[in-house]
Amino acid sequence: MKDNVNVGGNFNGIAPLYDTLAFVVFGRRLQQAQVVWLNQIPANAVVLIVGGGTGWLLEQVLERRKPKRVVYLEASAKMVARASRRMIRRAVLGSVDFRVGDETDLKPEEHFDAILTPFVLDLFTEQTLRSHFIPQLHNALKPNGLWLVTDFVQPHIWWQKALLWTMIRFFGITAGIEAQQLANWQQSLAEAGLVRQKQQQQVGGMVSTEVWELEQISNRQRKID
Ligand SMILES: C[S@@+](CC[C@H](N)C(=O)[O-])C[C@H]1O[C@@H](n2cnc3c(N)ncnc32)[C@H](O)[C@@H]1O
Repeated sequence: MKDNVNVGGNFNGIAPLYDTLAFVVFGRRLQQAQVVWLNQIPANAVVLIVGGGTGWLLEQVLERRKPKRVVYLEASAKMVARASRRMIRRAVLGSVDFRVGDETDLKPEEHFDAILTPFVLDLFTEQTLRSHFIPQLHNALKPNGLWLVTDFVQPHIWWQKALLWTMIRFFGITAGIEAQQLANWQQSLAEAGLVRQKQQQQVGGMVSTEVWELEQISNRQRKID
């Protein structure tokens, strides 16, 4: 992690309350959105979960997909501690490398069959996504790897807009996230050479859960021809 400053915020203070707050506002709907495309993760995969929080999604990935190995990369030490305790408490089996850090803590030789970013892209400005966050993860994806994103998208209904505005302000104050408005992460992923394979709207259209893949050289060639 660079100089111990993560522009995605410091969630240590809010870690004990995070799941309760999310449940009070959204019930189980944020969790339901995150599992829609887990069946796309290939068998025996090496998986990277970035910003997985208290570990609910990790448990689902381990139980549903039985991956070969998971790197659990989380900027908050408190979140990582909760995720590892959860695994022990619930006796979930699997090979997991719990790592406190951010995308700069990935090793250059590490490459993944699937990368998961659940409610993480919304923490950053478009500038950070484009210049830094997306390129780093892009480099960590195997040529046929999948990037599963579940995140908020720009809503059109007034109360959803108000809710999103409130959440961004709340995490600005409590965790110091850099975003002041929702970045157009879909456009940023597309501009980085990723292609969306699957998409489903969730939570009344204010969340989208998607599968992205690297644009294959053959596809590019076909377009040129
Ligand atoms: C909004 S929370 C979402 C937590 C979890 N995915 C969920 O849906 O319950 C964002 C999480 O991303 C983590 N985070 C922020 N920036 C990060 C980064 N650059 N690398 C890894 N984790 C990061 C935070 O510590 C926090 O736990």
